Amino acid sequence: MVTRFRPQHLSKLLHHRSQQVILDNQQPGGGYLACPTMPDYQFSWFRDGAFIAYALTLDGIYHMVPHRAGMSGQWDSAGKFHTWCARIINDRAGALERTIARAAAGQPPVAADTLNARYRDEGGVGPMGWPEFQLDGPGLWVWSLAAYVEVCRLHPLPVAWAQAVERAARYLAAVWRYPCYDCWEERGSDVHISTLAAIYAGLGAARHLIPTLEVEPTRAEIRAFILDHGLTPGGELAKSVGLDMVDANLLLAALPDYGLLAPDDPLMRRTVARIERDLLAEGHGVHRHVEDTYYGGGAWVLLGLWLAWYKTQIGDFAAARTLLEWAEAHADAEGNLPEQTRAVMLAPSYYAGWVEQRGEIANPLLWTHAEYLIVQHALQGR
Ligand code: BGC
Repeated sequence: MVTRFRPQHLSKLLHHRSQQVILDNQQPGGGYLACPTMPDYQFSWFRDGAFIAYALTLDGIYHMVPHRAGMSGQWDSAGKFHTWCARIINDRAGALERTIARAAAGQPPVAADTLNARYRDEGGVGPMGWPEFQLDGPGLWVWSLAAYVEVCRLHPLPVAWAQAVERAARYLAAVWRYPCYDCWEERGSDVHISTLAAIYAGLGAARHLIPTLEVEPTRAEIRAFILDHGLTPGGELAKSVGLDMVDANLLLAALPDYGLLAPDDPLMRRTVARIERDLLAEGHGVHRHVEDTYYGGGAWVLLGLWLAWYKTQIGDFAAARTLLEWAEAHADAEGNLPEQTRAVMLAPSYYAGWVEQRGEIANPLLWTHAEYLIVQHALQGR
């Protein structure tokens, strides 16, 4: 028999279910499966994991999941993920050094010497042909690690973590100008503003973790580049250089602590206003961008929650709650939250093709559950 959650208990149950989905899908080596039910997503991404670990870092403050070592289960899990990322990066030290040297000589990166977007838990890579060169992930990882270190008061930084942070920062500083795939794994020939914002935040976090790192000149260059080349004619942050289009991933520009823009910066407000105008779906989910055809370009539960998170950052808790409730209404009978919903699609004719290729829409998506925990944390006591 399928039991439906009773509405009054929904938030509590979904909170618990989110912890459970995430912790159950952490792999022995520390990676998190993006989604356990979709074969193409049975890998760990730096990006998804960074948000998952960030969510657990915050969630562990007030809702400790008991752990045999007496610490919060969430912090133990996030710590294992950070160790996994550091291992992946340090294992590729030679390749990354070659990319850094090439960039210093004015040469573009070659795929074999860059970080992949997704890895198997033991460090292997997936089948060829995936859009692997993505620079937001390592930046987001360092950003997430800094929050972890701060909350858990982990000083000094473990040696392997410090080595990986330093390596990731030098790699990002060397290659940030080159085109790469965006966080949706699309448009590999463009330079994306959300990717630059993730690198910007990652470099800021790296300097916080290792104060001797010389990253401020690069951060200043990235900011100036965005302001010169990364705006739409209407004065919003653009999806990519040269495009008069926004993307919901630009919410990344207002990441807490080391973000490119303060949440209430007029440029951020203008950008979010256009995201709401162009991408807020009827009934509240958020589309990724106006040209989206992935699974028909549905409304993303993940992005509805991300917008809710942003609303908490500008103090609009009522709007955040409305968006949160919309997301909650898309939990299935087990309390699983999907990546997106097909209720409102931009390009419905593409839906069936994706189902044939990859199976049903990813559900549960750990990153969506992470955003859920982040919003719950931000609404705590409000
Ligand atoms: C999304 C990525 C995500 C991956 C795993 C892709 O479809 O575009 O942002 O990292 O799924 O969740």
